[in-house]
Amino acid sequence: MSFERIVILTGAGVSAESGIDTFRDSGGIWSKVDYRDVATPEGFARNPAKVHDFYNQRRRGLLRVQPNAAHRALARLEAVFGGSFLLVTQNIDDLHESAGSRKLAHMHGEINTALCEACGARSRWSGDMTINSQCPHCSTVGRMRVDVVWFGEMPYHMDRIEAALARCDLFVSIGTSGNVYPAAGFVEQANAAGAHTVELNLEPSEGHSSFSDAIYGRATEIVPEFVRRLLAAEVDAAFERIVPLP
Ligand code: APR
Repeated sequence: MSFERIVILTGAGVSAESGIDTFRDSGGIWSKVDYRDVATPEGFARNPAKVHDFYNQRRRGLLRVQPNAAHRALARLEAVFGGSFLLVTQNIDDLHESAGSRKLAHMHGEINTALCEACGARSRWSGDMTINSQCPHCSTVGRMRVDVVWFGEMPYHMDRIEAALARCDLFVSIGTSGNVYPAAGFVEQANAAGAHTVELNLEPSEGHSSFSDAIYGRATEIVPEFVRRLLAAEVDAAFERIVPLP
């Protein structure tokens, strides 16, 4: 089996071993804070300072973490693979970029980008954001928000993502629980395109039964080995269980 058009989807599990909390594992982000307060337009309208503080803490945390072997393996796959390649991430961190990935679509936005609600301009934003932050483009004060997609908002780059899914012959989902749409539905779109679909995760996701293959384990172990085998054209072996199930 050889592939010519690969789409990869990543979720919080690919960054977990870099020290970034996931959302729904035990002790995850949504067990500590109510997503309705910090990840919805309504929550931002109710208490913008609380939302700014939530993302300021996570942005500061990014300064202390590095990409892990899974991020680096995906960057290597992109660099070496000769066919078409798209890495779609639900993550708002910058670890894929730091590892070298470039053919990348942040469907839930990026924590290091700001959006001005007054003029619509986007700016790189590395420091804290407050209710008194000023837009670098239109100078308006108090209309800045983090440029991430909140619940109820339309994810970014969907035309590009859906075009890639409609053509792909391999779809690989890594480190996501399959709880949130539209990302959770990508495997069905890949199946409809006739693609081979494989899930790499710590444990079976909500949508595990939709995948042709699955490899379970820690991303820093299973992703580099999967990429090595894929690039070595040992594709049949690539789908064998790399680490025995627990
Ligand atoms: N290696 C591989 N997988 C892991 C690891 C690891 N070291 N650690 C955790 N996982 C897996 C978990 O088993 C889980 O299935 O990663 C998945 C993380 O799931 P979630 O916490 O639900 O994160 P994610 O799927 O990315 O959430 C999707 O929900 O809240 C929104 O916008 C948010 O982008 C996020 C979206």
